[in-house]
Amino acid sequence: MNKLADFRSDTVTKPSQAMIEAMSSAQVGDDVYSDDPTVNALEARVAQMFGKEAALFAPSGSLTNQLAIRSLVKPGEELLTELTSHIVRAELGAGAVFSGITTRTWEGHRGSFKASEVMRITAPDAGPYLVSTKAIAIENTHNFGGGFVQSFSEIKELRKESSAVGINMHLDGARIWNAHVASGIALKDFGSQFDTISVCFSKGLGAPVGSAVLSTKDRIAESRIWRKRYGGGMRQVGFLAAAANYALDNNISRLKDDHINAKRIATACAEISPTLIDAVGVETNIVALDLSGLNITANELNNQLKEAGILAGALGPKFLRVVTHLDITDSDMEKILDVLPKLLKRALVA
Ligand SMILES: Cc1ncc(COP(=O)(O)O)c(C=O)c1O
Repeated sequence: MNKLADFRSDTVTKPSQAMIEAMSSAQVGDDVYSDDPTVNALEARVAQMFGKEAALFAPSGSLTNQLAIRSLVKPGEELLTELTSHIVRAELGAGAVFSGITTRTWEGHRGSFKASEVMRITAPDAGPYLVSTKAIAIENTHNFGGGFVQSFSEIKELRKESSAVGINMHLDGARIWNAHVASGIALKDFGSQFDTISVCFSKGLGAPVGSAVLSTKDRIAESRIWRKRYGGGMRQVGFLAAAANYALDNNISRLKDDHINAKRIATACAEISPTLIDAVGVETNIVALDLSGLNITANELNNQLKEAGILAGALGPKFLRVVTHLDITDSDMEKILDVLPKLLKRALVA
């Protein structure tokens, strides 16, 4: 049987032979003692890439987001984020459960924001009767927003206005590499706008495991304690840091190929019906299809795709997500470009 073309997520990639070789020749040590030279080098490298003082390697992007926000917001204080952001939709209430953080959200088209609208809902130093806003989290690119690249001028405006009233900013940069490649904005420029940053090596960059949280030396020292407390202290983990290093060396600029593939899929879908997606707005590797104008649910379409050898993600009753990544082959692309438009067309007339 032919291999399934797996468009569920950019997390499904397997390490290449060259990445495995880099991993197997890594120098390692006990990272809980900060003795792992490969982890130490990776942390220094990533911090430097974003112009930050320090970084901490951790098993997941959820953990690095949580370490960051707990360093900015105390129990009973507030984080603001977008309604469909990963922090509030997909981390299972971790900010409330582990850090006592309350969260309010704004609703932005495709996960976006306007600095003035976010500022309107802030409550800095709200006194003894109301919750005080301490941080704002921005997701870039925005996953459920279909890989949306946030406007850098809005980021700068929000930074200016929020820092003037003592509110910190966190970047959920699980896919900041995609935003960097799509927009041409330097990583250091992103770094200059945020107090804490979480980045993932295990999404588009293709490493099997690993994320990092970046900030000041003091905050990262505190995060190191909390990482251990959460059970995220790892030992000879340089094998995984070597995969991340390999990914940084080899897999950033090639993200443009994933973006081209996503655009091709989006364009083919938009030709069936413009209500499905605005293909012009697909700038990175995620195609978020809105099936509300069609006579089919995301689950039904997903099942039909699966019968044709294609995996995608049903993320809502009428929300189908297709993600391109470095393990997508030319034949996977041929298959989806052949099958998906036909199924959509059938659902349109049904
Ligand atoms: C935007 C975003 N942030 C954070 C994460 C969390 O990463 P992890 O799955 O490594 O916890 C994800 C995972 O898909 C994500 O899409």
